[in-house]
Amino acid sequence: MNADQLKQQAALAALTHVEEDSVLGIGTGSTVDLFIDALAAQKLRIRGAVSSSERSTTRLKRHGIDVLDLNTTGELDLYIDGADESDRHRRLIKGGGGALTREKIVAAASRRFICIADESKLVGVLGKFPLPVEVIPMARSYVARQLVALGGQPVYREGFVTDNGNQILDVHGLSIVDPVTMESEINQLAGVVTVGLFARRPADLLILGSPNGVQTI
Ligand code: 5RP
Repeated sequence: MNADQLKQQAALAALTHVEEDSVLGIGTGSTVDLFIDALAAQKLRIRGAVSSSERSTTRLKRHGIDVLDLNTTGELDLYIDGADESDRHRRLIKGGGGALTREKIVAAASRRFICIADESKLVGVLGKFPLPVEVIPMARSYVARQLVALGGQPVYREGFVTDNGNQILDVHGLSIVDPVTMESEINQLAGVVTVGLFARRPADLLILGSPNGVQTI
């Protein structure tokens, strides 16, 4: 099975957790794209979705799914999103697609967070995937120096602007043995908008597509 088939497996398994009349939070990425397509195909009646990116908004609207403003919905029933890495505690690295800030907001505003991915995303220790950090443009070099002091090698994601008008540093070379502490430390740097560690609010369920079938953690 190829990676897309494994992602599809996870996306379909997540559909079984969606209840009628619920309001969903929708993440961003190729796995979420498959989830959106499967949701639309199943024609389950949901009240609508809060989207974490312009990319997902476009796809949801194309399928005729109502995209709602988080300021009007209250707490969301369920958030579905992918990840770049997950450990066995469902602590994640996210932001490969650059949507980390809105993803973190929607995750925080949701009662339940289900992460969907192919099995290659499961790791022992987070950090092989470069950790994305969204920064206010004028703070980029300052934040980069602080990230070096924390042991990382930040690389400016050139030519990329987030949906919020900011920039991304991808931090290489980290071995994140204490993701909760690192998330707090990086969050506190002046000029950081969001760090792509989702450890203080991990996923509640991780659904992994694998050649042996779906695994849940
Ligand atoms: C976007 C993300 C995505 O969830 C992450 O990059 C995984 O994407 P994919 O499903 O394409 O592997 O965090 O900001």
